[in-house]
Amino acid sequence: MQNLRSFIQDGWYPIEEGGNSVWVWCQEKSTLRIPEKTQHLELHFATIYPELKKATQNIKISLNGKFYKEYQVKDKHSVIKIDCANAESAALEVDVVRPSDFDASQDSRLLGICLVQVVCISSDPYLESGRNTLKEHQRIALERFLSLVSVKGKVVLEIGTDYGCETLHALRDYNPEWLIGINYDQHYSNRIDIAGNCYFQKLDARNTGFASNFFDTVFSISTFEHINELDKAVAEINRILRPGGELYAHFGPIWSCYLGHHVHTSLDGEVASFEIPERNPFPPHAHLYLSEHEVMELLKKHYSPKMVEAILYQVYQGTGINRLFFEDYVHILESSGLEIILFNEFWKHPVEETATRELKRFGFYRNFETCGIEILCKKPNSIGRSDITDLI
Ligand SMILES: C[S@@+](CC[C@H](N)C(=O)[O-])C[C@H]1O[C@@H](n2cnc3c(N)ncnc32)[C@H](O)[C@@H]1O
Repeated sequence: MQNLRSFIQDGWYPIEEGGNSVWVWCQEKSTLRIPEKTQHLELHFATIYPELKKATQNIKISLNGKFYKEYQVKDKHSVIKIDCANAESAALEVDVVRPSDFDASQDSRLLGICLVQVVCISSDPYLESGRNTLKEHQRIALERFLSLVSVKGKVVLEIGTDYGCETLHALRDYNPEWLIGINYDQHYSNRIDIAGNCYFQKLDARNTGFASNFFDTVFSISTFEHINELDKAVAEINRILRPGGELYAHFGPIWSCYLGHHVHTSLDGEVASFEIPERNPFPPHAHLYLSEHEVMELLKKHYSPKMVEAILYQVYQGTGINRLFFEDYVHILESSGLEIILFNEFWKHPVEETATRELKRFGFYRNFETCGIEILCKKPNSIGRSDITDLI
């Protein structure tokens, strides 16, 4: 886990020697390692030692050995922001005291101002989109999540973090203790450090490798419908949540609804997308009641043979969606061992008459209206089960 220690190089004095404290005192000359692609660093200082509080502290900063700026720090807490693109190290020269000069103690450590946090703002291409650019569905889901769960002081995991890590940036304002995002998409960087207590890591939700009972809260936006073997991922969430910890997920369109095919294919200028009505070649629910051959015939009217092949692969075989029906989600959650606090169907679209007749063949599966599902579950302190049918 990335913490202050991963930035510090020479000349620091840990608050507890050999301990796990994440705060460090500057000694006279202290250096910081600047991670690759860092654009800005925010250094958060606290003036803790009583003798240091009496006077203004001077901090001289050099980048890659060249003088950068000098700061005067007067307040108990202060933040210094440095532009450090292309720099690999930052050297700090600070005023120091020896406790033994002021009191009868034998403490002869050289203590300067205390560094309590480093926020690293990266120029990683995945982060270029910056902050406050949440997509509408993310904004809605985050608002719902935050209205149900407080993340302040909590250890929080997001499953299926977006490409720009926008949700992580947005959630940092709510002061979680730790905030980690994961996604297993091959196009993502292995790791993106966003701040001292916030990072993204390329991991599979079905096998994260995190310690058991580690997280207070797990949340996920528009991802549950994409996770293959969702039962495994939910079991993994159950494992890594601490007893009493919460899972919030907001997702859709799920496979059984009118847009469940999720068509999203582009090839040589041809586009098919479930999000653009005029580019959606599927009549409502047709991915369920037409045979693959019938769909192919339909697609041939609009697209080149290569594009038809690509669409068919994406909709019926690709691993980008899990093809779970509404009832499958209900079953997975009910048998997960998590306590279901809330189960909302937030986006319903009626089934057309022809489809109603055709969809009867699915027997056990009956809900073809619900497109979006929102859940809040809790890991019980003792093993217990709850039944969604009581909630919907
Ligand atoms: C539709 S995107 C949603 C991304 C983002 N949450 C948003 O709202 O824009 C679904 C994401 O789930 C990720 N995903 C699917 N299965 C996963 C798994 N097993 N582990 C981690 N991420 C997974 C995919 O890589 C994809 O980026």
